[in-house]
Amino acid sequence: LICSSAACCKYMLIILCAVLVEVDKRAQMFIIIIIIRTFRVFSSVRIVLVESIPEGLEFNSSTTHPSIFQAWLNLMAEARSSLDIASFYWTLTNKDTETHEPTAYQGETVLKELAELSGKLSVRIAVNKPQMSSQKNDLKLLNDSGADIRVVNMKELTSGVLHTKFWVVDKKHIYIGSANMDWRSLTQVKELGAVIYNCSCLAADLGKIFEAYWFLGESQSIPSPWPATFSTLYNKDTPLQLPLNNTRSNVYLSSSPPSFCAAGRTPDLQSVLSVMDDAESFIYIAVMNYLPTMEFSHPKRYWADIDTQLRRVAYEKRIKVRLLISCWASTQPVMFPFLKSLASVYDPESKLDIQVRLFVVPANPRQKKIPYARVNHNKYMVTDKVAYIGTSNWSGDYFVNTAGSALVVNQTDSQSLEPTVQSQLKAVFDRDWSSAYSTPLTQHSDLKDFC
Ligand SMILES: *[C@@H]1O[C@H](CO)[C@@H](O)[C@H](O)[C@H]1NC(C)=O
Ligand SMILES: *[C@@H]1O[C@H](CO)[C@@H](O)[C@H](O)[C@H]1NC(C)=O
Ligand SMILES: *[C@@H]1O[C@H](CO)[C@@H](O)[C@H](O)[C@H]1NC(C)=O
Ligand SMILES: *[C@@H]1O[C@H](CO)[C@@H](O)[C@H](O)[C@H]1NC(C)=O
Ligand SMILES: *[C@@H]1O[C@H](CO)[C@@H](O)[C@H](O)[C@H]1NC(C)=O
Ligand SMILES: *[C@@H]1O[C@H](CO)[C@@H](O)[C@H](O)[C@H]1NC(C)=O
Repeated sequence: LICSSAACCKYMLIILCAVLVEVDKRAQMFIIIIIIRTFRVFSSVRIVLVESIPEGLEFNSSTTHPSIFQAWLNLMAEARSSLDIASFYWTLTNKDTETHEPTAYQGETVLKELAELSGKLSVRIAVNKPQMSSQKNDLKLLNDSGADIRVVNMKELTSGVLHTKFWVVDKKHIYIGSANMDWRSLTQVKELGAVIYNCSCLAADLGKIFEAYWFLGESQSIPSPWPATFSTLYNKDTPLQLPLNNTRSNVYLSSSPPSFCAAGRTPDLQSVLSVMDDAESFIYIAVMNYLPTMEFSHPKRYWADIDTQLRRVAYEKRIKVRLLISCWASTQPVMFPFLKSLASVYDPESKLDIQVRLFVVPANPRQKKIPYARVNHNKYMVTDKVAYIGTSNWSGDYFVNTAGSALVVNQTDSQSLEPTVQSQLKAVFDRDWSSAYSTPLTQHSDLKDFC
């Protein structure tokens, strides 16, 4: 019953009401209790956007969301039987980064709590094959504390990496977003994710993606086709219908690479393209990297599926496109000519409106010393219709051979007065776009002036 769709639930209620008239008192009570329980289960499903705002960043805006640190603590406090984590790498302590940063405290707290939980309930971790020995410390601690860890050798499997970042708690609550299991992701890097509480159906579906990684960690080869237990009913054409915060919603999870998608699963690229196709007035994108190439392939490969779609909808449907891209010490210079090319598709007279801005997280001398920090690592898109919250950088590799996943929330049918996820995500985008940390990219912009 819990996993049936909301629409189906409505019909069941009508049938139950019809039956009620016909049956005796005790049966009536029983049926009423079932109806109330079903209602309670649905009305307790909550979705909360969560963010990491790097130390020192300040916005002139009332748009704020609970921290990812707080969300992870809440999820650990809720956990009664199981916690499954899909992860790229683990560096939750100062030891891993060879720093002495007080702001590593949050990450260190998360690791300590996870180690405690590992002795009490089932904690499973799927992780990309560690590339550096410094990335093994946390995993060793968790392993010694009783967690089950499987290393997924993506390099061998697809020549990509396991880049996914999500949690499934008690097969009931989920977290998905851009934050890595890295102390910097809590206090020194800008991140965005979503937590959904009390949602067994979606947790079961994300659980299937986790089970695929878990399976690959053992088998080290990709089944084709995937066994039926990995397949799903929920995708872009037949999303899961349920109320989130009592608001009618259509939701599904997409996954990459395509070879990891069992029957029914929408590949992440199809999800991105269809969300763009569905937009009627605007598409706002906030991602760290944007490249119409397979950035890690040799020989070089051009890959313009997303780029072409943006130009197409901007031209054919007069969609207003905004890209908020990150600029930091590790940004590849080759990104800029491609972004300038996109930004050149701008001409009010022809109703062409693509604009690009660069987001820079400033750093003081102390913060500058922290390796791989002080960057906007968000990976989401919001249109006039839906919210898309992902875990991938936007270049070909992440959709073709790297493992990632995304949550798509569609509340266009909602008649509720509560804010939608789409409106909350748009407010986050507007806040960042119009902040002092973002600068328009023009044809004359010189990378050296920014980052
Ligand atoms: C989940 O639902 C139960 C009632 O069904 C409620 O007591 C609990 O607070 C909810 N949990 C969260 C985290 O919202
Ligand atoms: C976990 O510990 C066991 C021994 O207790 C060892 O065999 C295994 O390789 C360890 N796994 C990881 C991922 O460190
Ligand atoms: C959102 O839902 C509406 C109505 O249910 C549907 O027409 C539309 O295609 C959906 N959009 C996406 C991107 O799934
Ligand atoms: C995203 O892209 C950057 C730059 O190419 C890369 O270093 C990183 O591993 C990728 N993944 C993450 C952590 O987002
Ligand atoms: C859903 O409810 C939670 C807690 O009640 C709130 O923090 C969150 O902002 C709400 N989400 C939306 C999309 O309204
Ligand atoms: C906030 O507003 C002040 C005054 O208008 C401005 O100087 C500052 O740059 C703004 N900060 C951000 C982060 O937008």
